[in-house]
Amino acid sequence: VAALLVPAVMPTAMPAAPTGDGSLDRYVIGVRRFRQQMLPPGAPATAVFGYGSAPHPGTFAVPGRTIEARVDHPVQVTWVNELTDRWGDHLPHLLPVDPTLHWANPPGGRTGRDRRPEFASTPGPYQGPVPVVTHLHGGHSPDDSDGHPEAWFLAAAEIPDGYAREGSRYAGFAAAYAARTGAGWRAGSAVYRYGNDQHPGTLWYHDHVLGMTRLNVYAGLAGFYLLRGGPDDLAPGVLPGPAPKAGADDPAGARCHEIPILIQDRTFTADGSLFYPNSRAARGYGGPYIPRTDVPPIWVPEFFGATMTVNGRTWPLLEVERRRYRFRFLNGCNARVLDLGIAASPVARPVRSALPFWQIGSDGAFLPAPVALDRLLLAPAERADVVVDFTGVPPGTPLYLVNEGPDGPYQGDAAAAPADPATTGQVLKFLVRPASGRDSSVPPDELELPRAARLGPAVRTRRLALLEQGSAVRGAGPVATLLGDAAGRGWAARRWHDPVTENPGVGDVEVWEFHNLTPDAHPIHIHEILFEVLDRTPFHGSARPARPWERGRKDTVIALPREVTRVKAHFDRPGLFVWHCHMLEHEDNEMMRPYRIGG
Ligand code: C2O
Ligand code: CU
Repeated sequence: VAALLVPAVMPTAMPAAPTGDGSLDRYVIGVRRFRQQMLPPGAPATAVFGYGSAPHPGTFAVPGRTIEARVDHPVQVTWVNELTDRWGDHLPHLLPVDPTLHWANPPGGRTGRDRRPEFASTPGPYQGPVPVVTHLHGGHSPDDSDGHPEAWFLAAAEIPDGYAREGSRYAGFAAAYAARTGAGWRAGSAVYRYGNDQHPGTLWYHDHVLGMTRLNVYAGLAGFYLLRGGPDDLAPGVLPGPAPKAGADDPAGARCHEIPILIQDRTFTADGSLFYPNSRAARGYGGPYIPRTDVPPIWVPEFFGATMTVNGRTWPLLEVERRRYRFRFLNGCNARVLDLGIAASPVARPVRSALPFWQIGSDGAFLPAPVALDRLLLAPAERADVVVDFTGVPPGTPLYLVNEGPDGPYQGDAAAAPADPATTGQVLKFLVRPASGRDSSVPPDELELPRAARLGPAVRTRRLALLEQGSAVRGAGPVATLLGDAAGRGWAARRWHDPVTENPGVGDVEVWEFHNLTPDAHPIHIHEILFEVLDRTPFHGSARPARPWERGRKDTVIALPREVTRVKAHFDRPGLFVWHCHMLEHEDNEMMRPYRIGG
């Protein structure tokens, strides 16, 4: 087995400037294609897309290296699309693109949405250039640095002279956006600024291109962005800490007592390549493709992988000392909801918890108090900041991080069979070793956590709906997932390109209600703000308050089927942002809406 890889810290591009902007951390982060050992040693390496510091070729990895940021200390990243070969020609995507969705549709591709009626059979693979754009998930960012899905850009070499996006029927929106924000799609790169004027939290960065986020993230474009310091953080030494020095990758995790854990399900082919369905007709993905109908030929409603990877390796091993660890869990799966436990047996079900998770923070801030949990429920894009105490575990003991979430859509606790205990029911093995030094961190039940101030009363409540569009062809399943808003006694379904309907005033506090009319849970994410989760009310039942681990501030919330989930947020910065379902197949097929703060 392979040791868990602990992502090293992303190096800055240059030492901070000696004058002027000396407090700005500058990065130049590229996106490249390379091969990485994701499968166990001896198996073939896997071609991936990954992030790294462009001036430091050895830093490219999946997940990307961790950006360490400090509260109120701005970071500038020049994001560069480097998906070209050594002759400057574009590299095609590693995975099958569905050109019939409403997607980026860059110049140079051979197929496009508007050619859809011509498809007499499954279209040939898209061989055009790969657009990228990076979103800092959980960031309180200016909109021109938010990674808007239309603000994608190609590798510099790929942009034909004079191209003005007329090829796209959404040219108007995209061009206006690019002109206003200088989004840089023409230059092959974009310069983004993150002010970090928010609570410390577990943020992450990932790709966000319109209609192909699921493919770019699946190919490897994700990494952690850990925000620390400021008045709302704990004093150094209170929690188990990271490796003392930002150095080389540290495969054994030696000396790291704070470890980010990115969990992603992946399927591999026999030659080590990443597998993603290239047709809706692939086994288990919704049945035959029916040409000349509304059924997309390639898009599948959800993807569930056959193996679990942690920090880019399948089923790794983490040797831990008999002491406390701080884990930053992130569910980076396309569609899979995880329900994690720590057990003595990797396969026994139901899982009997061998050690509790002491959750101290959620997505974007600390909880009001630590919560001891036997299970950790994490939908795609949710994070949990957790302390696990191995102090009382005898050396030599193996323990397993296991998963009881379903191998399919999540519909609520106990609604579906848990993941296959032989494969996706297992995530990570811990092997407990004697402690090498004293643990001076504070025991989790004694921790006093900084409290996020409560938001004031809302000026407005928005009724919003989560919807699904079935095919006109009987039995063909969903062809799109949608968001909508209240219209009369019912709902108006909206698509990505429909005009903005959610438009809070600058400084407004609003409550957003998510009425889930579909059979499955959806993790709903709002850019730019961090919200309070208020409660959930079944369509026929009474309200339940937010779960203890959802207190503090979050940016992603699980909206359960046939329930109304309510969140409250302070919309304090003007700009054009988005909100969406974070099941990436849904986000890529209309379950995303622009929203605007201010005029
Ligand atoms: Cu993590 Cu809009 O995304
Ligand atoms: Cu969804």
